Amino acid sequence: MSITDGHELIAAEAYAANGPPHDLFAKLRADSPVHHCDNEIYEPYWAITRHADICSISRQPDLFLSDPGIIIERRGMPIDRQEGLGAMKTVIEMDPPKHREFRKVASPWFTPRAINRVDDIVKGAAREIVDRLAGETGEGECDFAMDVAAAYPLRVLSTILGVPVEQEATMLDLTNQLFAPEDSELGWGEEVDESNAQERVMKLGMDLFNLFNPIIEDRRKNPRDDLASVLANGQVNGEPMGPLETLGYYLITFTAGHDTTKNSLAGGMRALAEHPEELEKLKRDPSLIPSAVEEIVRWTSPVNYMRRTASRDTELHGKKIEAGEFVVMFYASGNRDDEVFDDPYTFKVDRNPNRHVGFGHGEHYCLGTHLARRTQCALLNEWVSRIEELELAGQPEWITSSFVVGHKHVPIRYKLSKGA
Ligand code: HEM
Repeated sequence: MSITDGHELIAAEAYAANGPPHDLFAKLRADSPVHHCDNEIYEPYWAITRHADICSISRQPDLFLSDPGIIIERRGMPIDRQEGLGAMKTVIEMDPPKHREFRKVASPWFTPRAINRVDDIVKGAAREIVDRLAGETGEGECDFAMDVAAAYPLRVLSTILGVPVEQEATMLDLTNQLFAPEDSELGWGEEVDESNAQERVMKLGMDLFNLFNPIIEDRRKNPRDDLASVLANGQVNGEPMGPLETLGYYLITFTAGHDTTKNSLAGGMRALAEHPEELEKLKRDPSLIPSAVEEIVRWTSPVNYMRRTASRDTELHGKKIEAGEFVVMFYASGNRDDEVFDDPYTFKVDRNPNRHVGFGHGEHYCLGTHLARRTQCALLNEWVSRIEELELAGQPEWITSSFVVGHKHVPIRYKLSKGA
């Protein structure tokens, strides 16, 4: 009998109930690292679970394409790829040479040096949010996922993308609809099926257009030193980007940056609450915070998987993959591969080396890595320097999503010092 028909690797409900299926990933890595998945609900695909294979596929963007799509959809879901949001192509769904041309529009803004300009923003936002939690007494309870992990990157990304404070809540809602449409609290609040999917996608596209279009128009007239201005005035091959392409760039930076950072922070706080000895290490030696952030990204793997499509017939570990077939790289599995990590199921803030694939690898390696690191380091710095007591105040709950994966609720009880 086959280890799995792949349903539980993609079914959002399975992740809501139990989080990522690490036991199944381990079996697949050991016994069937290129595993054919075929079930009644989802499109068929090959599951790739070993770190080395994920890296090798990611380094061959001409053979394993992103342009045909990056997620596994339900069979027969009629998302229109010709119109509206469905037709919008962003860097993450492009292949070379086009991909490199588009990536160049924003990449200078994301280098470590360029990211220095957000230092004050991230430190200020981290300070403000931890101050708010501390309140008068320093003690309290909160849902770290909602109150901190979601609110903090929202503030940072809204600032660099020019979204006014009063529209942050709308932005958050739209991002949730995009990434967790099946989650009853975060998503569309109704069953998504053939009858309503297209309509919901169209509405979401209009809402996003209405949010970003005034910002794009403003930054064309009055460019500033922010990412919003870089994108509004971006050129590809010497020509201005088209309206859908420009909108798509706003959308991908916001959406790719928000939920990932949020899930990393929320899962990271759960891990620190459950491993007090690791939090102690950070308190004793805060210079470990950058390494803790890498471990949190490995541990939480917010981007669970990415799909590619074979451009021609090929073979991997003796399995014949035909042109047009899908391969799905499970980063969460690569990040627990004992060929690469000592003791992969242990959370260690001082793990070194840590060659995780949480930010992907190769051609599509995360554009926002330095921003993601800087943002998380700033919050952890603030947190670690002030936290005196920390424990879970209830059972964390998982989001109903198998693509960008993490917690929607992490109740904690804490005691914070006043801060310097
Ligand atoms: C902990 C936080 C983050 C994680 C775990 C993460 C993870 C990833 C991963 C795995 C990919 C590779 C996608 C692929 O293989 O096709 C990726 C791509 C990308 N990420 Fe991130 N990301 C994070 C934060 C951010 C931030 C803060 C931004 C921007 C504000 C961002 C923007 C992007 C973009 C634009 C791409 C597409 C790059 C391309 O296709 O060339 N990410 N990210």
